[in-house]
Amino acid sequence: RDTVALVPAAGRGERLGPGAPKSLRHLGGEPLVVHAVRRLAAARSVAAVVVAAPPGAAETVRGLLAPVVSAAELVVVEGGDTRQASVAIALAAAPSHCDIVLVHDAARALAPPGLADEVAAAVRAGHPAVVPVLPVVDTVRQVGPDGVASSTVDREVLRLVQTPQGFARSVLAEAHATAATGGRKDVTDDAGLVERLGVPVHTVPGHASALKITRPFDLVVAHAVLAEESG
Ligand code: C5P
Repeated sequence: RDTVALVPAAGRGERLGPGAPKSLRHLGGEPLVVHAVRRLAAARSVAAVVVAAPPGAAETVRGLLAPVVSAAELVVVEGGDTRQASVAIALAAAPSHCDIVLVHDAARALAPPGLADEVAAAVRAGHPAVVPVLPVVDTVRQVGPDGVASSTVDREVLRLVQTPQGFARSVLAEAHATAATGGRKDVTDDAGLVERLGVPVHTVPGHASALKITRPFDLVVAHAVLAEESG
């Protein structure tokens, strides 16, 4: 067990509608962050989990996670104003003996433990940055600011990027140390930051269950995934 999983869970999740921070919203009777951490803790490679909780909710999150992961393996910190800031804070609190770092959105609450292990294994095999990806099934069209559709993009060369993303710890630390504080709009994940150092990003097959729960419809799909898992 050489891997620490960082879980940015500090977002408000406004696209899901009004209410609690997204990671504390319930799915099948449990908050999203509990689902996400239970699956990470069940991964064979994961030795520790660091959660970036919503501001003011660190104690609440610690309490929620106590039945799911042992205290020795869990660190809860308060996240920052952006996802990037939350990841940087979590990374700084990660146990030093872990050389491989996974970064996994609480919003991808149902990503299976095996996906975390596959990503960690690819890092262990020598890839400093690894992302799980899915093919694009829709036709994709680029549109201008006036809403006029200008051209179709070749979907064969496109992939949808999920989490958990995996990194050699030193590479992720350097990427966050050299990144502009506060985060850039065009850098929406950690692989995007690492890439700016010139580090190649390796891909492994993603998983449909690792969908990002963003809008109300995604909760409907997530309920179906849960039902299938338990049934
Ligand atoms: O906003 P978005 O859906 O891209 O957020 C992805 C993940 O980053 C979510 O799990 C969210 O809780 C987390 N996040 C965070 N800190 C922020 C904003 C988002 O940890 N300030």
